[in-house]
Amino acid sequence: MALRTLSSLGPLAGKRVIVRVDFNVPLQDGAITDDGRIRAALPTLTRLIEEGARVIACSHLGRPDGAPDARYSLAPVAQRLAELLDAPVQFSPETVGDAAAGTIAAAPHGGVVVLENLRFHAGETSKDAAERRAFAQQLASLADVLVSDGFGVVHRKQASVYELAELLPSAAGLLIEKEVDVLDRLTENPQRPYAVVLGGSKVSDKLGVIAHLLPRVDTLCVGGGMMFTFLAAQGHRVGKSLLETDQLETVKGYIADATARGVNLVLPVDAVVAASFAADAPHAVADAADIEDTDFGADGLGLDIGPRTAAAFATAIRGATTVFWNGPMGVFEMPAFAAGTQSVAQALTEVDGLSVVGGGDSAAAVRQLGFTDDQFGHISTGGGASLEFLEGKKLPGLEILGWQ
Ligand code: 3PG
Repeated sequence: MALRTLSSLGPLAGKRVIVRVDFNVPLQDGAITDDGRIRAALPTLTRLIEEGARVIACSHLGRPDGAPDARYSLAPVAQRLAELLDAPVQFSPETVGDAAAGTIAAAPHGGVVVLENLRFHAGETSKDAAERRAFAQQLASLADVLVSDGFGVVHRKQASVYELAELLPSAAGLLIEKEVDVLDRLTENPQRPYAVVLGGSKVSDKLGVIAHLLPRVDTLCVGGGMMFTFLAAQGHRVGKSLLETDQLETVKGYIADATARGVNLVLPVDAVVAASFAADAPHAVADAADIEDTDFGADGLGLDIGPRTAAAFATAIRGATTVFWNGPMGVFEMPAFAAGTQSVAQALTEVDGLSVVGGGDSAAAVRQLGFTDDQFGHISTGGGASLEFLEGKKLPGLEILGWQ
């Protein structure tokens, strides 16, 4: 079944429209370091403003423990939103209750109110459905309809994501609509050749994705910290690099499955190996067949793919018509170990077709490395959500909007 979209809600002028967004942005000393998720919410918010709705934006930020915690206030986000919209935004220091209702009642048609962090209330994330529903009732009393647009949180069965959509007429916003459209194209009939590039630290985080995508892809490139479990599965020595010994058998199974299916599994042939985990650590390029074959011996720590691997990945990426990339190739936050991630990002910008960057660390990486969003087909705002979508899992926040 298809998602219910904005038009299904009918005219919204003058209506109180609560919009569940994902404003869970990284903060450092109270300052927003990446406003990508706020920007991603703008198309829906702008459309509602233009329609003359009274817009109530609600979100979580971080993981406060069900009680107010100033470190996780959405106040700086409301301020940034006002800058991006170039319009006044009213911040409600209360998430629900009379004060919040009063602020909303005073908002003009086309006005925007941002509610304080949903997770300041235990009901938002409670495991108890009745508690979630009680909190959702409080939210529902503030609004006439719900537009659900926080794609990054659709894998969570939480009050504002799930129960609220049961209580109010609800539909997906433009961001969720776009995310689902793009991610669905990666799982159903992608244009071929189709290449997937996976990185990030732990293979255990990606098992479901690998299993679900192996039957669907033409090429799979594996880099990042998880590559060392693949190299060890091939019988190579990996020194002190990240290794998940409990996943070795599973990974051996993936390698065999890829061969049996004729998938072009591109594993690293070299790596940048460092003496320790530090930005200024001495480092050298080692052959992937023996990471311990550097001056650092068995203490060597692989922190990036090597240049030959980066070139091989770039060739595979440029040769594909559909590419999905999730997870940095190395410790990109340290310039000495950023070249692999830089090279993969660059190759994605050169794809003649659909290039998709999975959320979380990879989205942060491309922006930190100086790329702009418009150089890619799509940068997903979902970290866990986009991975779970690609694992073929049922996502509660989408199912409740009609998606199956
Ligand atoms: C994310 O950052 O992936 C989403 O905002 C969900 O946050 P959560 O993992 O704290 O539920």
